[in-house]
Amino acid sequence: MFITFEGPDGSGKSTIINLVSEKLKELNYDIVQTREPGGTRISEKLRDIILDRENTELTARTEALLYAAARAQHVEEFIVPNLNSGKIVLSDRYVLSSLAYQGAGRELGIESISEINKFATNNLEPDLILFFKVDPLTTLKRKNKLDTADRLELEKESFHSRVYNGYISIINKYKNNNNFVEVDATKTIEEVLEFSLYVILKSIRG
Ligand code: TMP
Repeated sequence: MFITFEGPDGSGKSTIINLVSEKLKELNYDIVQTREPGGTRISEKLRDIILDRENTELTARTEALLYAAARAQHVEEFIVPNLNSGKIVLSDRYVLSSLAYQGAGRELGIESISEINKFATNNLEPDLILFFKVDPLTTLKRKNKLDTADRLELEKESFHSRVYNGYISIINKYKNNNNFVEVDATKTIEEVLEFSLYVILKSIRG
């Protein structure tokens, strides 16, 4: 099973994926946890280039292709072999992030981003997508002030609003798919964790 965690910056999905992973291991499920951009040696190098706040001249199209390139390596080297050996793969972000950030945020168009990602992933789709829904503007205000904020987090509010609206409009199309679940990320960590685990276990156990 391939399960992805999606949502705007500051939605708490990374905290939740760690907790879900721990819990599933305790329950003796064979889990591997990974993230995008990243997850392999080469994809992590691409991540450094993409998120480096010094790389101000990186163009939107280059950015979209670098995310797709990091993903192509991740899919072929890590995700597919793990799925083939029967593991459950949990990934912090996947294609939906590119549709929202590059398609909507950078205004490159959701269709073109979808096309390059079909090529990059050889059409590999998640079995379950959890979308952590929260308006990113409040959470990002805190992060932007930190020295650790990356190139994307430092983007203007208008960019993050486009990303969020992009997510919402894409999600409206996915809503009736049974592999897509929206999680109210404004709730407490305990509540978000409990709901996420419930959804994942239900899906794993069929
Ligand atoms: P992270 O903070 O969740 O690790 O993700 C790094 C940043 O990269 C985050 O701001 C979201 C952004 N991103 C994209 O713009 N497109 C993508 O395809 C992915 C995977 C992440």
